[in-house]
Amino acid sequence: MAKVGIIYYSRDGNTRKMAHLVAEGVRGEGLEVVVKRVEDTNIDDLLKWEGIIAGSPTYYGGPAAPLKDFFDRSVKYHGQLEGKIGGAFTSSANIGGGNETTILSILQMMLIHGMIIRGTSRGDHYGPVSIESPEERAKKGCEELGARVARLVKRLSE
Ligand SMILES: Cc1cc2nc3c(=O)[nH]c(=O)nc-3n(C[C@H](O)[C@H](O)[C@H](O)COP(=O)(O)O)c2cc1C
Repeated sequence: MAKVGIIYYSRDGNTRKMAHLVAEGVRGEGLEVVVKRVEDTNIDDLLKWEGIIAGSPTYYGGPAAPLKDFFDRSVKYHGQLEGKIGGAFTSSANIGGGNETTILSILQMMLIHGMIIRGTSRGDHYGPVSIESPEERAKKGCEELGARVARLVKRLSE
């Protein structure tokens, strides 16, 4: 069965909560999902997953260093992640605090890997944003991201 991996960095727990909500959305579509702290994730895991969703707190308008470092090390498999489905999410302190630029930075790294990204015409267009801990709106966005990625994984794995 196609698998989705969710990797995240979280210092204070907000992004971790988002990661588990995204996983609920994947499970709702009947796919197997693994949620891992980036510190515990091996680059080799990337090859096992058809869908890869990454989350980070917004740090100075971009992803936190451990997630960026993970992507830098993913060069080991440059060219081998072509056609996998990607997605991203973030938690920030402020509404205009650089959260969309954080998501776009993560999606940009995925695009450079040749991955496929689907946005949404509703809600948070690039991926869910939570202001600190996820409230109802962000929770829904996280679940929708998981479901969106899972549906596309299923369609493209047929
Ligand atoms: C080093 C550092 C940089 C940060 N930079 C920003 C920022 O640019 N914009 C913002 O809105 N919040 C910023 N924050 C706040 C975090 O993004 C926010 O508290 C987030 O919810 C933390 O997620 P976590 O609980 O998963 O660690 C920063 C926090 C730290 C520690």
